[in-house]
Amino acid sequence: MGNANTKLEPEKPSAPPDPLIVLVSSLNDAVDALQKVLQVRQLPAFELDSPIPHPLDSGLPDPVSWFARKAIVGLCSKIIATVESPAERALVLSNAWLIPVALNVVIESEPPVVDLIAETGEIGATVTSLAGKTGIDAAKLRSILRVLTSESFFKEITPGRYVLNRPSSVLVTGNAIGDLVSFTSGPSMRGGSVLSKALRHDGLPAGDKYEETVFKQTAFQLYHQKALYPWLMENPRYLTRFHRGMTQLELYMDPGISCDYPWEELGESVTLVDVGSGRGGLTMTLLKRFPKWKAVLQDRAEALSAIREFWEKEATDIVDADRVSFLAQDFFQVTSLRATDDSHYVFMIKNVLHNWGDEHCLKILRNLGPAAAPGSTLLVCTYMPAIPQPDEKHITVKEYFDGISGKDMREIQEMHLPIPEPLWADWGYGNAYETRSGAAMTGLLNAAGRDIYDLRNLLSAASWEVASSTQMRSAASMIKAIKLQPAPLPN
Ligand SMILES: C[S@@+](CC[C@H](N)C(=O)[O-])C[C@H]1O[C@@H](n2cnc3c(N)ncnc32)[C@H](O)[C@@H]1O
Repeated sequence: MGNANTKLEPEKPSAPPDPLIVLVSSLNDAVDALQKVLQVRQLPAFELDSPIPHPLDSGLPDPVSWFARKAIVGLCSKIIATVESPAERALVLSNAWLIPVALNVVIESEPPVVDLIAETGEIGATVTSLAGKTGIDAAKLRSILRVLTSESFFKEITPGRYVLNRPSSVLVTGNAIGDLVSFTSGPSMRGGSVLSKALRHDGLPAGDKYEETVFKQTAFQLYHQKALYPWLMENPRYLTRFHRGMTQLELYMDPGISCDYPWEELGESVTLVDVGSGRGGLTMTLLKRFPKWKAVLQDRAEALSAIREFWEKEATDIVDADRVSFLAQDFFQVTSLRATDDSHYVFMIKNVLHNWGDEHCLKILRNLGPAAAPGSTLLVCTYMPAIPQPDEKHITVKEYFDGISGKDMREIQEMHLPIPEPLWADWGYGNAYETRSGAAMTGLLNAAGRDIYDLRNLLSAASWEVASSTQMRSAASMIKAIKLQPAPLPN
């Protein structure tokens, strides 16, 4: 029998879990989820050293692998930040400019170092031969290449001998990503170097006449003495590569837009007004899918002939059936379209608002007014950081992937799952592309990344009310807004 006088010891509170262990076990859970998909779909393992792309590197991935890769990238980055000495981390990252600079060296040297390495296949190129062909000093080139190998671009198979691997394979000449990186790692990066100065000068009028009406001084302009678009016009080599890269970017970064949004809910006979349409590739896909849909592609007058040409070639039937019209419309002027009883306009602004500051976005939105009857729908497709809602429950990485396993994208959207702990906002580094694209627009165009709260405010100032925000297998999200009734006039 126990002693009735024995006092029960109060239970010791359990020690909080070791954060590193939590991160690593979450990482294991995300890797497990990804491996299961590879097994079920009989896909090969991810490899770093082979330059052959993995089937999931482009095209539409299944939802679990889309989110698992984000989680793995985010968790690995947090694991590094947890164990690395803060002093070392701050010093290393403050020198991170070396990464774009080194990328620029291998892409822009003549001939490009990346192409020379690619040509040598598995044998690899020695730094001495690369130096001989490009005229760059061998010791300096090796030190630049080692910046890249430490970021897993290229593999140094024996001291001073380099082969192409999967990450570096997209840099070769002719690849759309290499095209974009030549701009982002060069002219854009140089412009960014004076961003802190430009931010202090925010508000000064721009010197360039064209830009005076549109922008304040951007970092790009401060550095290059020309704003972005006029600069691109004067640098046709970059213009061509930039344009080629942008038109193919969707394949890599936004594969899910056309199938992850519930387009059919917009109705059977819709006229999609694509504002700042560019070539209007998504609109073309939708018109091919919905035979009763029509479209108005709106862009600058100078852009229209190339747009029309693209449609005449790729969607001859739709052009011949008059289901598409091409409207020269400056979106800073009031639209020439008018709402009528049978217009059925649905407006779409895709990848446009992130280029502009609030003042200009408001003009674009308000200028749609005469065409947008109360109750009309507007879809804004834009890069948006994922931020947690204040009342969101916390779930683990395992709970997240158990929850979405076997579900399609629509079912996942309806679950409204929060980003799992310990990743929190933006999947940590997992959504770095989205976050950085927003900030890059500050350097290039004096715009800024917007989250859902910013967009809600912006849209509401132009009498559009946000109805939903849809997560897609895309760097962009789709925000649906409804045109409000005009406020009654005061008595
Ligand atoms: C980043 S692109 C986006 C193109 C397309 N919406 C997409 O998602 O691929 C921006 C588009 O806005 C157009 N644009 C720029 N300024 C404009 C203006 N003032 N009026 C109308 N369109 C304009 C450009 O010609 C270009 O097609």
